[in-house]
Amino acid sequence: MKKIYIAPMEGVTGHIFRRAYHRHINQEIEKYFTPFISPNKNQCMSNREKKDILPEDNPGMRIVPQILTKDAERFVDTAKELMNYGYKEINLNLGCPSATVVSKKKGAGMLGELSMLERFLDKIYDTCPASVSIKTRLGIEREEEWWPLFQLFCKFPLAELIVHVRLLQDFYSGPVRPHCFYEAMSQAPFSMIYNGDIFSVEDAEGVETETIMLGRGILRNPMLSCEIQGIKEGDLRGFHEQLLQDYRNEMSGETPTLHKMKELWSHLITSFPDATKEYKAIRKSKTIAEYEVAVSRILDS
Ligand SMILES: Cc1cc2nc3c(=O)[nH]c(=O)nc-3n(C[C@H](O)[C@H](O)[C@H](O)COP(=O)(O)O)c2cc1C
Repeated sequence: MKKIYIAPMEGVTGHIFRRAYHRHINQEIEKYFTPFISPNKNQCMSNREKKDILPEDNPGMRIVPQILTKDAERFVDTAKELMNYGYKEINLNLGCPSATVVSKKKGAGMLGELSMLERFLDKIYDTCPASVSIKTRLGIEREEEWWPLFQLFCKFPLAELIVHVRLLQDFYSGPVRPHCFYEAMSQAPFSMIYNGDIFSVEDAEGVETETIMLGRGILRNPMLSCEIQGIKEGDLRGFHEQLLQDYRNEMSGETPTLHKMKELWSHLITSFPDATKEYKAIRKSKTIAEYEVAVSRILDS
């Protein structure tokens, strides 16, 4: 059975999503990666970020917190704080393509500055008491950047390397470049995890690694992980109800809850191609009551 990691997705796969997914869809997920924690000069974690990693809000799951920073000391301080909550593995984000992040030479912005990246990794792997894995892209704009980058990673004791098999300039819809991944895999001194555009069982079967990371695939079809693993499908209605209830309890007012649920539906609707009219009603809903009527028309059918 393939091992499955759930990708960090800022604004989507927070603790409420993870908890509902674990409870109602699939209990065989190997690891959940948190959306990135972004430490600043004054604090390692905001209150919102702390709340997301509290062990009591993430029961029964193996969680790997992710950090986005170019400051090695802040990385280590934040990792130590996370260790106080019991976390032993921390993931470093080297893949975020957002312009504001990249312009500060963070996330995928670090991939273009190999000597800076080497100094940064030197400090982290010298001083961080946690085990550190990396999530990266292949480079910034050319595939030729991948090999030197990969060789740099090979100098360090990575817990594992997760590769979103795209360049920064590909963002989320450019071509995936699996050949780069497989060329490196045979020579890697650490395990490598494949990530990018796994949307079906066939896509997953085409991936040669024992472990894969799923992102948008489980937003479009929450059962995808069960289908890939060949286990009993989860309960979509229960998952949806739990999400709605937990967002309602945590957020103030109906509008932010509706916003979250509508964002989820922008992916989920792919599984219901005939529900154009109902989806329009979801998008236009102004109250939870209107929203629930539109959703039940889809889920009941
Ligand atoms: C809405 C959204 C938010 C994301 N947030 C993060 C993040 O916080 N950290 C990270 O490493 N990757 C983030 N990603 C990238 C995903 O983890 C993943 O690498 C990417 O979507 C490719 O995998 P997929 O094709 O299976 O979705 C995000 C992607 C999306 C769509």
